[in-house]
Amino acid sequence: MAQSSMLISAYPSTVKNGPEVELPYQIKARPAQEDPTRSPSYRKVSPMMPSQSPSTPKGVALVTGAAQGIGRAIALKLGEDGFDIALVDIPAKKVQLEEVAQMLKLVGRRTVTTYADVRVETQVKDMIADVVANLGGLDVMVANAGIAHPNGSILSTSVEQWDATFAVNGRGVFLCYKYAALQMVAQGRGGRIIGASSAWGKRAIAHAADYCASKFAVRGLTQSAALELGPHKITVNAYAPGPTDTPMLRAQQSPDIKETEYAKEVVDATALKYLAQPENVAAVVSFLASKESHFVTGQCIAVDGGTTLS
Ligand SMILES: NC(=O)c1ccc[n+]([C@@H]2O[C@H](COP(=O)([O-])OP(=O)(O)OC[C@H]3O[C@@H](n4cnc5c(N)ncnc54)[C@H](O)[C@@H]3O)[C@@H](O)[C@H]2O)c1
Repeated sequence: MAQSSMLISAYPSTVKNGPEVELPYQIKARPAQEDPTRSPSYRKVSPMMPSQSPSTPKGVALVTGAAQGIGRAIALKLGEDGFDIALVDIPAKKVQLEEVAQMLKLVGRRTVTTYADVRVETQVKDMIADVVANLGGLDVMVANAGIAHPNGSILSTSVEQWDATFAVNGRGVFLCYKYAALQMVAQGRGGRIIGASSAWGKRAIAHAADYCASKFAVRGLTQSAALELGPHKITVNAYAPGPTDTPMLRAQQSPDIKETEYAKEVVDATALKYLAQPENVAAVVSFLASKESHFVTGQCIAVDGGTTLS
């Protein structure tokens, strides 16, 4: 049978232990295709190595900001879970992004590496089109890319800094939600949309006005989108990490993050008394992306060791 006509059905189309709910992730697999209108450096498809015999993919997941930190851990976890993975980051992160693609190949997943700036609408549209053309659809969108400035004091934050933070953390997440939703609604098989908020998007801290406000915005966007997209069997949720050991945190504090006073304060504030690793966040996103999470929507799940309790 030609691969392009093969229907991959990873899950039954209905569940019986509740209202009849169509589950996502019925995908039509398509072979990787080169787009002659695009520069080869824009996108690279990593087909499976011939020796690998992969399990039937659970669907296609796209992760933005996948070159490092939390996004990298999410991409690797979803690959391990059985999704084919679209890896997205900015061109400056090409080396790291290709490394993640190589690691995914080892677990037998098809991957696409795509370079897009989530602030730019045309690039987000192209990003989705590219993934659909090369992996056959989109079932899980993880709008993870985000930035933080070291000082967000309300007394000194400039309009430029405010706008720069919102361009990535607000507009970027909105664009990823919007174009993923358009694709998923058109596909008609449900889906999962997941965004990066923050513990500071649930309970603000001082000296981070732009960052906290942008992460509160992700929660509002997530709730509104969840209400609108529910009838399409698309769930929309966010994750809210506490301070997590990633390049973002190290850049703000110290490469030797665990030895800093800041890390000691962060750890003290948790119930569990250790500093989060990116894999701790990825484990929660893995659940939100799974078929089992189909009755969870509009939520913002704290992954902060018990720092913020509600
Ligand atoms: N690390 C933490 O302590 C922490 C805590 C709470 C929330 N978060 C959130 O989790 C997400 C990931 O954080 P992280 O610590 O892994 O960050 P990170 O800086 O280590 O990685 C972020 C990735 O996003 C990419 N990116 C930035 N701007 C982009 C753009 N315009 N278009 C496409 N890609 C872009 C970067 O190149 C980078 O690879 C962010 O949204 C962050 O705000 C992080």
